Amino acid sequence: MRTPLVAANWKMHKTRAEAAAFVEAALPRLAVVEGVEVVLCPPYTALESVGRLLQGTAVRLGAQNLHWERQGAFTGEVSPTMLAEVGCAYVIVGHSERRRLFGETDDRVRRKVRAAFDAGLVPILCVGETLEERQAGLTDSRVTDQLAEATADLSAEDVARLVVAYEPVWAIGTGHAATGEEANRVSGLIRAWLRGRFGSAADTTRVQYGGSVTTRNAAEFLQQPEVDGALVGGASLDAEEFVGIVQLAARPGGTGGAPG
Ligand code: PGA
Repeated sequence: MRTPLVAANWKMHKTRAEAAAFVEAALPRLAVVEGVEVVLCPPYTALESVGRLLQGTAVRLGAQNLHWERQGAFTGEVSPTMLAEVGCAYVIVGHSERRRLFGETDDRVRRKVRAAFDAGLVPILCVGETLEERQAGLTDSRVTDQLAEATADLSAEDVARLVVAYEPVWAIGTGHAATGEEANRVSGLIRAWLRGRFGSAADTTRVQYGGSVTTRNAAEFLQQPEVDGALVGGASLDAEEFVGIVQLAARPGGTGGAPG
């Protein structure tokens, strides 16, 4: 059984002070939930301070992006080594906002996923179709194409630890979540593709759903057999709401998965 993973993607929200207030409010309650792994992904500026507050707890730290090189003349970028140094265990790669607004290509996503593993970080690889692609019947091919590109440099061992977030672009930040049934279908497709390429390693890959997840709809996704947790944006900004989603994801007795 895979341990579900619920990650908070704060995007460009929260100063260090606001991040600290969130952790103070949420941590005592997150610390007592069993059978779910929790990751907070603050903006770069709050990584170190949040990491310090999480020290000695089971809640893990994640970043929202990285560069693929270890160092160099890349003004404004942050390397995998730097993220590992401040205590990150996870890093979101290929989020649709980065693909759409910042020109992130499948090729860059591939390099970032490899670089994350090389630095000891576990990538949370985001894949998902746009509304136009869905309407044109291209959901499955778009998702598997993204997956094929992003995992081209990975070994089965990497894939066993990888986290994939299925995030239909039309569901992100819109309040229009997918149905549990469709999230389960596409998550199953993702795992089947990974199994075809990497064998039984895919049995421990965690596949999350992301896109307008709240406490009101989380159970619908989290009870699906192929869905191993959630990547939560807007609803993760509120401590009460995020803790509620984590509680709904808990599968006591769950083992497996592969924390970084
Ligand atoms: P949302 O964002 O929960 O606000 O839809 C999800 C995401 O972007 O990861």
